[in-house]
Amino acid sequence: MIVCDKIIMFVYPITGGASLVRTIKLGTSQLDVPVVAVGCMRINSLDKKQAEQFVQTALDEGANFFDHADIYGGGSCEEIFADAIHMNEDIREKIILQSKCGIRKGMFDFSKEHILDSVDGILQRLKTDYLDVLLLHRPDALVEPEEVAEAFDLLESSGKVRHFGISNQNPMQIQLLQKFVKQPLVANQLQLSITNATMISSGINVNMLNESAVNRDGSILDFCRLHDITIQPWSPFQYGFFEGVFLGNEKFPELNQTIDEIATKYEVSNTTIAIAWLLRHPAKMQPVIGTMNIGRLKDCIRASEITLTREEWYSIYRDAGNILP
Ligand SMILES: NC(=O)c1ccc[n+]([C@@H]2O[C@H](COP(=O)([O-])OP(=O)(O)OC[C@H]3O[C@@H](n4cnc5c(N)ncnc54)[C@H](OP(=O)(O)O)[C@@H]3O)[C@@H](O)[C@H]2O)c1
Repeated sequence: MIVCDKIIMFVYPITGGASLVRTIKLGTSQLDVPVVAVGCMRINSLDKKQAEQFVQTALDEGANFFDHADIYGGGSCEEIFADAIHMNEDIREKIILQSKCGIRKGMFDFSKEHILDSVDGILQRLKTDYLDVLLLHRPDALVEPEEVAEAFDLLESSGKVRHFGISNQNPMQIQLLQKFVKQPLVANQLQLSITNATMISSGINVNMLNESAVNRDGSILDFCRLHDITIQPWSPFQYGFFEGVFLGNEKFPELNQTIDEIATKYEVSNTTIAIAWLLRHPAKMQPVIGTMNIGRLKDCIRASEITLTREEWYSIYRDAGNILP
């Protein structure tokens, strides 16, 4: 792997292919990561051959950051991925693996015992001896940060986990954890898309009497920028909570017309523009895409090359139904 001025060039012996993708540092770490992360929550919808083609395409495109969770497919997604990529030491060095733990059936669990057990299970299923990044999946009401700190120390000193982060957490929860956890929290995975942009809207509508002003997240966007925590938007194509994809959806006619016009201008697909919209935000986010379609995967990665103008960014924002005060 050759790192050259914020671009990673990969040359893969498997295919001989080489490609360029823009990278960012993950949080305050020195880890260079592609700006688009490949989410593996839906990889169990593919058969073996399709899964192999999918991960190979991601590698060929330089998208070597894969997002997992112990619960995806009840653990089967991690296993399918490890088989599809033909995990071995050589491959392992070329990829960046992130997984999450802390969700159990009917509860959330950030106990030391559960975190340690979960990581062992994740490593076994991914056929590796370390994770580049471990995220705590969803806030546990019964969290005892001292226990999390002990778990993180053990995982770091044993070499099982190199970097730590959280998911779906607000600023106070992060500060509470960070009071005890000595490792910097480098990433916060949060639901964010053009049609689920309340963390952006509340910042635009400060102190207004409208619905957009409702601050649901404690100003997490500004907090993450302030503390150099990389936001990883999850479900970047969904509206509601897994209600469907907004692209090409008749529920969003103005939005689709605007996205299509901008896509025509840049000679890319509407999929590319939806990701470019997230990447245009100066918070330097790393969207986690969920498509299992090879064409759409490439389209998402292509967004790394597009920089929308301020006018284009705001017209997409407005045409999604968001208001300006
Ligand atoms: N931290 C958390 O709490 C959390 C929660 C949920 C997800 N995640 C992570 O985020 C990742 C992405 O989540 P997601 O799968 O819900 O995200 P998504 O990228 O918004 O949705 C992907 C789904 O939309 C479909 N789709 C249809 N048309 C599409 C188009 N034009 N462009 C893109 N996709 C289109 C895809 O189908 P095709 O496969 O046919 O393209 C796929 O089923 C997951 O894999 C997981 O790693 C994290």
